[in-house]
Amino acid sequence: MIKIITVIGARPQIIKASAVSRAIRNNFYLNIQEVIVHTGQHYDENMSEVFFRQLDVPEPDYNLGVGSGSHGMQTARMIEGLERVMHEERPHYVILYGDTNSTLAGAIAAGKLKIPIAHVEAGLRSFNKTMPEEINRILCDHVSSLLFTPTLTGVNNLLREGFTNDITGIASADHPKVHHCGDVMYDNSLYFSGMAEKQSNVMEENDLEDGQYVLATIHRDHNTDDPVRLDNIFRSLLSITAEYGLPVIAPLHPRTAGILEKNLNPQTFEEVKRSLLVRLIPPASFFDMMTLEKHCLMVMTDSGGVQKEAYFNQKPCLILRPETEWLEITAAGAGMVTDTDPERIIHAFDHFLQNPPAAFPPVFGNGKAAEFICKEIMNNCE
Ligand code: UD1
Repeated sequence: MIKIITVIGARPQIIKASAVSRAIRNNFYLNIQEVIVHTGQHYDENMSEVFFRQLDVPEPDYNLGVGSGSHGMQTARMIEGLERVMHEERPHYVILYGDTNSTLAGAIAAGKLKIPIAHVEAGLRSFNKTMPEEINRILCDHVSSLLFTPTLTGVNNLLREGFTNDITGIASADHPKVHHCGDVMYDNSLYFSGMAEKQSNVMEENDLEDGQYVLATIHRDHNTDDPVRLDNIFRSLLSITAEYGLPVIAPLHPRTAGILEKNLNPQTFEEVKRSLLVRLIPPASFFDMMTLEKHCLMVMTDSGGVQKEAYFNQKPCLILRPETEWLEITAAGAGMVTDTDPERIIHAFDHFLQNPPAAFPPVFGNGKAAEFICKEIMNNCE
């Protein structure tokens, strides 16, 4: 029996980890024991707990209760807590997901304790180091032993940074192995697609009709903390509702909800508050989000995960960032990088209304990424 520690902390990590947890429970329970550590980076019912329930993730064995804070303070507290747990549990492997501060903390704690790391969602790059996520993913990749990339772009990025195609022998931090295995979020999308809609009332609650609304999410500090960028995004939402008469539904991350009044131009803030078509709602549960993604006309987002889920649901996506790590989406003509420029946003919106994407090639794997990951971890334990 091998023991792994799964580190989760932020909303998207609970979602990604659920796929591997499910694979362990279904297919590897005789071989792998999973210990789940929640750093407590996200802590609200609607940012954390509801995802455990809906995605059937076991209760964490440890909750470090770190909460929010500056990047340095948050990450430092996590490293301290994770080091303690890793000392106590002595796992064979630590699994880290994505690019959050919880990922970075796990990488530093495990790396220094010489515990091999499996990084799920390795190799993604925005080539924009002003974003904390870019720093977190680069640092994590470079101390990992097993790097699981969801896309071929991820593999190519790693090869450019000096990783090799050599997958012989046992993986270690000095002999890392890169595997292109597909996306665990796609595993989830297939697994939960039928279930989600049956358990969600989000369409009725918000008076939405199939194909007759836009879904928007905004949470990156690159956007929320910059008043000009944030104002541009909300002015664009107002223009879309005014010009096309379509509602925009925006489940707001607490970071965004908390900063709107401070960072929006007072007139924009008033217009948004008064608008009947810009509908700001609390963070959506996983089932509600899947339902909103399935029935919307188009997605506008600065989230990495929501870009992919738009693609899984065959919806065009406007990417509210200067660049994207998910080049496959833009290459397929299914997404456009608009940044926060109102003109580019309206132009792209109009483009997709006139020319919906013709095809969504299957670039995110076959829905079995999590099983592959479990097998490779077992194959690389001495
Ligand atoms: C983090 C990740 C980002 C990921 C995102 C998903 C980093 C650097 N960024 O950003 O990669 O896409 O999660 O959501 O790790 N808050 C609450 N309740 C919660 C959680 C957060 O109110 O349950 C508020 C806090 O006031 C906090 C703010 O949201 O200050 C931001 O949270 P933080 O943990 O700093 O990162 P995210 O913006 O969520």
